[in-house]
Amino acid sequence: MSDGATPRPLTLAIPKGRVALALAPLLERAGISAASLLADDRRLIRQSDDGTVRFLLLKPDDVPTYVEYGVADLGLSGRDVLLERRYDLYQLLDLGVGVCRMVVAGPEGTGDLARPRVATKFPRIATEHFAKKGIQAEVIYVGGSVELAPLVGLADVIVDIVESGATLRENHLEVLEHIADISTVLVANRSLYKLRHQEVAPLIARLEAALAAP
Ligand code: PRP
Repeated sequence: MSDGATPRPLTLAIPKGRVALALAPLLERAGISAASLLADDRRLIRQSDDGTVRFLLLKPDDVPTYVEYGVADLGLSGRDVLLERRYDLYQLLDLGVGVCRMVVAGPEGTGDLARPRVATKFPRIATEHFAKKGIQAEVIYVGGSVELAPLVGLADVIVDIVESGATLRENHLEVLEHIADISTVLVANRSLYKLRHQEVAPLIARLEAALAAP
């Protein structure tokens, strides 16, 4: 937090890895020097060249937590994480990066099941999806390699993210139902958004302009 004399730079929580690399060009177009995001090292706190923005590099699932608790003013979070765990945040802008789909998938030709067993990293999304259809699913949490579950009999179907579709294809699974479109969303801490509005508003405007540019 600020010591009163020197305001801390605007702090942006970013998912490290693929999404950070995809976001860097967008941030650059919005006038935020993001070269430090491309550096191949293990630093978890990085700065824009002019020192006005500080980046925190986090696991994607942790971005909203850092923003909700106010140690980051803003964050870039997948909509999947925001749907799965409810946070008290503003969702400001869809950045159109990290675009993918949340789906129900299963072995080719899977029909309707009365009480499906569903393996997923997203138990709330899965439970709510089937409940809306009046189906009581047995939801089994797994931490990754979700596509394995129906291949070996742990589950009938999965609820997971599909990006290129390669993982489904190579494991002889197919999309059965579409649940939601997913992409990266700019989120803000509610109090800091108001307190630092003079700094945050121009940044949002520049990101909007960068997104609108051809
Ligand atoms: C994600 C997701 C799918 C895969 C989809 O997994 O859970 O398994 O990517 O991508 P595709 O449609 O382009 O193949 P991730 O790579 O994060 O690894 P994980 O299985 O360990 O969660």
